[in-house]
Amino acid sequence: MAKESRLKQKSNGFSLFVLILGIETSCDETAASVVMNSTKILSSVVASQVQIHHPFGGVVPELASRKHIETIVTVVNEAVNKAGIDKSQIDAVAVTQGPGLVGSLLVGFCFAKAFAFGLDIPITGVNHLEGHINSVFLEPNPPPFPFVALLVSGGHTNIYYVTSHTNYEIMGQTRDDAAGEAFDKVSKMLGLGYPGGHIIGKLSEKGDPDKIIFPRAYLDKSTFDFSFSGIKTSVNRYIQTHKNEYKKQTPNIAAGFQESVVDVLTYKIINAARKKGCCHAAIVGGVAANSRLRKRVRLEAKEKHISVHIPSLDLCGDNAAMIAAVGYHYLLEGKKLRLDDDVFSRAKSFF
Ligand code: KG4
Ligand code: ZN
Repeated sequence: MAKESRLKQKSNGFSLFVLILGIETSCDETAASVVMNSTKILSSVVASQVQIHHPFGGVVPELASRKHIETIVTVVNEAVNKAGIDKSQIDAVAVTQGPGLVGSLLVGFCFAKAFAFGLDIPITGVNHLEGHINSVFLEPNPPPFPFVALLVSGGHTNIYYVTSHTNYEIMGQTRDDAAGEAFDKVSKMLGLGYPGGHIIGKLSEKGDPDKIIFPRAYLDKSTFDFSFSGIKTSVNRYIQTHKNEYKKQTPNIAAGFQESVVDVLTYKIINAARKKGCCHAAIVGGVAANSRLRKRVRLEAKEKHISVHIPSLDLCGDNAAMIAAVGYHYLLEGKKLRLDDDVFSRAKSFF
């Protein structure tokens, strides 16, 4: 059966198995994955560039795109092989179209277009943020619609009211830095390197969160917006005013900073659920890997009778399974890329 007509039959309610190859290169991970019908991961390969960017304390865009070029073919081949299929069995391709680093996005995007063109199969361009939101559907017991979602990553801190796989209302967003960006910058200030979130999370386990108290930026408590630049400045001021002794306090600084961020994130997502009368909330994106955040949200949610859905660690960070999962829904809705379509670097208004 032709690939196009398999997708058409699926959208008409036929029970067919549709295999989608997802490709993700928006930042510093080269990822490919084969997903069946948006929920069953047959393979998920992620090649991290952490070692390359570590000495610079952050992602160097030029190095990132060059590494994607070197890695993409191997990663896609590995994903196809691990799925136990032949390329000819792939029904469609889903690729991250944005937001992200333009040079990085272009590598995956151009590769995916050529791959789909070569096999004469449909291709769709996926919004990376929608990928993160849909990552909870790759886990057992996903939330029913509607639910609220906190997307916390290196580039975004947003709260959504999610009504379907591809429909959302944005309830709040950061007015300055993203939460993950704050983790990365504080780690850099403390001389701990990149990637900051994981390093600060680990170090915090050895520190006392009540020893050094940093401010909580709730803004107006009724809004679901965030601001993390103030806390970053507070940490910097602490370092500058304790130049001789701050190094001994590093675990306490990390724990104090983390607690401040976690307090605000927890407060806002629980209140967003209550405001919308939702009994399901999801936490997604790289910062959702933070064990203190996972624990605190689960604890607070339990008290308020809200079910919390947080993906396993592999699905919190950037991956291509979440891109394939969203791509499936786009394709069923008939959203396809044209060969002359381009990437977008900033979050498009898709609400
Ligand atoms: O979703 P992601 O992999 O990429 C973006 O779309 O940005 O998120 C990366 C962000 C980085 O800022 C990283 O420091 C943060 O997620 N992160 C963490 C943890 N693991 C990764 N932040 C806090 N605690 C962690 N354990
Ligand atoms: Zn991401």
